[in-house]
Formats: sequence, C-alpha cells, structure tokens
Amino acid sequence: MSINIYGNIFSRVYDKYWTEYIDDLAPGLIKFCDVNIKSKKILDLCCGTGRLANIFLKNNYDVIGLDQSENMLRIARYKNNEFNNFRTIHADARDFNINGLGLVISTFDSLNHFLNTDELNKIFSSVFDSLIKDAYFIFDLNTLRNLKEWDFIDIDETDDLMIVMYGKYSNQQKRAFTKVIGFYSEDKQCYNRFEEVMYNTVFSIEDINKLLIKVGFKNVKYYDPNNLSANIPDPEKLDRVMIVCQKL
Ligand SMILES: C[S@@+](CC[C@H](N)C(=O)[O-])C[C@H]1O[C@@H](n2cnc3c(N)ncnc32)[C@H](O)[C@@H]1O
Repeated sequence: MSINIYGNIFSRVYDKYWTEYIDDLAPGLIKFCDVNIKSKKILDLCCGTGRLANIFLKNNYDVIGLDQSENMLRIARYKNNEFNNFRTIHADARDFNINGLGLVISTFDSLNHFLNTDELNKIFSSVFDSLIKDAYFIFDLNTLRNLKEWDFIDIDETDDLMIVMYGKYSNQQKRAFTKVIGFYSEDKQCYNRFEEVMYNTVFSIEDINKLLIKVGFKNVKYYDPNNLSANIPDPEKLDRVMIVCQKL
C-alpha cells in the first residue's frame, strides 16, 4: 500500500490550484518530445488529474495515464473525455506491464513519493520493459537542497477554499512531509473538510544515476525543469531536477 492517498476532496483542490508548475513545464516538454520521440504512444506515470496528459493529447500524442488514486483518475478521465486516444490504468507504479511506448513521463515530484531505492528499482525496471528502442524516460525529483528546507506553515483562503499546510523535514528519515488540512466548497454553501499527508523521500542524484544505469538506461542527463536545452553538470544545486534518459 502506498502511504499517499489523494482523496476525493483533495483531488479536486489539487486539480484546481496545483496547476502552475505543469503549465510552465509543458511547452518545453512538448518541444523536446516533438523533436526526439519516435513513437507518439506515451505513458504519464502517476498522472494525477491528467493536466499534463491533456496538453500531450492536444499535441496529438496517444496517452495512457496510470495512477493509484481513483479520485485523481476520475478527474483525469472527465477532463480528457473528448479524446478517444486517452486511456487510464488504475495501478501501482511499482508494478505495471505495458508495451511499445515511445516515452514514459512522470512529473511534479511523483517519484519522491516512494520510500526507497528498492521501490524506484521496481518502477525503473517496469518503465524500461515498457519502452521501445530509442525511447525516453523523463521524470522530475525534488532534491535534498529543496527538501531539507521543508519547514513552513502556510494558510490560504479564497472564495471556495480555506487551507492550512505545514511541512517538515526529518534528517533522520531523509524524508519531508507536507500535511494539508482544509475546507473546500464547489457551491460556496457546503464546505467539505479534507486532510492529506504527502511524503517526499530524498534520493541522491548519485543513487538515481547508478540505478538507471543498472536497469539499462543510457544517456542519463539532468536539466532545470524549465530549460530542457542545456544539461546541468551539478544537479544537486537545483531545487528540482528533470532527469532524461534513453533505452538504446
Ligand atoms: C504530486 S501528484 C502528481 C500528479 C501529476 N503527475 C502532476 O504532474 O500533476 C503525485 C501522484 O502520484 C500518485 N501516486 C502516488 N503513489 C503512487 C503509486 N504507488 N502508484 C501510482 N501512482 C501513485 C498520486 O496518486 C498522485 O496522483
């Protein structure tokens, strides 16, 4: 069982308010993929509410969205119901079996949700097996530099949402968590309470590199997520890194 839930109310809040990162990221990603990806059959791994999938669909990719949260997937299906080349799989990222993909992508720190490198090993192996020759695996990660600063309390209020978030980093566990408690209303009359805890494990770039190479990936490169044109020699200096590698 995963320790991250993504429940019914929080999924709606996520879909409405956690949008900026993907919107900023997408144009660069699409540009990169249009040039480099050989098959337009792609998997959005831990696809959430399908925001990135939607942008790929609009750019004529065939998208499979896989996620363990049925709440997130329900929104992804609703949002993309005009596309008949979108399908979803309700599954665990550590154990899936799909063939013939030109790209697997996983964004917004989804892979930080996993507990250790053994779990990542399972994911990387399933991804590798699902890709065709020359295909790409692209994913982002929060780095230690970012997660070790996790120490905040945020309170936000809008017309439909009252939300309190607090974050902490445990040096002992090498993991940060964010607890979110809020009240959300879709009709601005009845407010529903939600509560969620999200975990972000620190993975060193050195361990990630070793793991990707062990599984068989080549050309492992590191980028600032908003600039996929120049790879970065020292990715631990970034708060969040985009990792791009290939099955040759
Ligand atoms: C931070 S959200 C990112 C969603 C989406 N990729 C985005 O960019 O907005 C993390 C997603 O990972 C999913 N997730 C967490 N653990 C998972 C697992 N074991 N298998 C599949 N999906 C998982 C959650 O349900 C959630 O939708």
